[in-house]
Order: sequence, then structure tokens, then C-alpha cells
Amino acid sequence: MKRRVCPWWLGYVLINPIRKYRHNPDKILGQYINPGMKAVDFGSAMGYFSLPMASMVGDAGKVYCFDIQKKMLEKLEKRAIDAGLDHLIESRLIEEDKNVYADLNGTIDFILLCAVAHEIPDKVSLFSNLYSMLKKDGMLLFMEPAGHVSVNDFRNSIIIAEKAGFRKIDMLQIRKTLKVLLRK
Ligand SMILES: C[S@@+](CC[C@H](N)C(=O)[O-])C[C@H]1O[C@@H](n2cnc3c(N)ncnc32)[C@H](O)[C@@H]1O
Repeated sequence: MKRRVCPWWLGYVLINPIRKYRHNPDKILGQYINPGMKAVDFGSAMGYFSLPMASMVGDAGKVYCFDIQKKMLEKLEKRAIDAGLDHLIESRLIEEDKNVYADLNGTIDFILLCAVAHEIPDKVSLFSNLYSMLKKDGMLLFMEPAGHVSVNDFRNSIIIAEKAGFRKIDMLQIRKTLKVLLRK
């Protein structure tokens, strides 16, 4: 399958505040993220969700942001400094042959995977890595853009997630977004 990664410049479109009308971080994440939690924004880009997540986990928590594009993470880091949230955010660049997850295994309460999975050809490894990072009963909120990703492809990804060990808790379609809540 051809791999199409979101170009770095599109990161600026993703952090446009207008996006809040479709993807309000408080409404989407507020019910799952509590102060003190360790959370992951996987495929964070420039941190549209990461910064609100940092505010939600607060000073006793941490948000780990993973991406394969350095430019995305550099802009995320700058935005975190400007917002006074940089002490709560750790960005991690995913590079081939480097295991950037191992030290987090079994430590994470919540993972957001939004508009990323369709860019990753090896979904078996993806969901297996996410599963390993979570604590027992930790949650994964998996979202994909409807239309861009077919319902069938989304369902197939959920099947792969279930094979990795995830249990499906809730499935919704909200504002042109396919969305499922999974639990370890
Ligand atoms: C469409 S953007 C979504 C960004 C963000 N989740 C959001 O909703 O604003 C997809 C992001 O996933 C990243 N990505 C692609 N493949 C990845 C991989 N294998 N591991 C981690 N991130 C990846 C891209 O670099 C890009 O920043």
C-alpha cells in the first residue's frame, strides 16, 4: 500500500483555531483525561490536541507526543513554550530502528490517535506498540476523518486493534469523524 504522510506545511492548517468548531478538544477529550494522568498524542503534528491535553493533565501529569516529522515536533515545542506548557510536554521523534516507546511500557493512562492510522502501513505494529504503552484498563481514543477514510477501512483497523488485545468500549460518528474508544 502506498504511504501518504501529511506534509509538514499542512500542520499549520491543522492548528487553525477554526478547527475547534469540528474538533473541540475539551468536548472530545475532557471526559477521558484527568489531572495527574500520563497521556500520549500519537502522530501529534504541531500539537492541536497536545496543548489542551497538557492543560488537562496539569502539573502532576505528562503528555508524550510522537511524530515522524521533525518539523512538526519543532513547531509543537515552540507552541508549548509560548503557552507555558513545555514542562508538561515531551516530544519524541520516531526514527527507523530506534525504539522510542520501550521506557513507557505499561505507564500510560490515555492515548489519542487522531487522523494518523491511515498514514501508517504497518497497523499491526502500531496497535501492538500502543497497547504495550498503556496501563491495564488504559484507554485509546482512535479517530479518523470520515470520507478520507472509509468505514470499511476504519472497521478493519479496529479488528487489528482488537487482535492486539484492545476491547471496544464505544463507537460513534461525530461531525464527519469516525471515532472509537478502546480499552486495554
Ligand atoms: C493528518 S496529521 C494529524 C495530526 C494530529 N493528530 C491532529 O489531529 O491534528 C498526521 C500526523 O501523523 C504523523 N505520522 C505519520 N506516520 C506516522 C508514524 N508512523 N508514527 C507517528 N506519526 C506519524 C504525520 O507526520 C502527521 O504529523
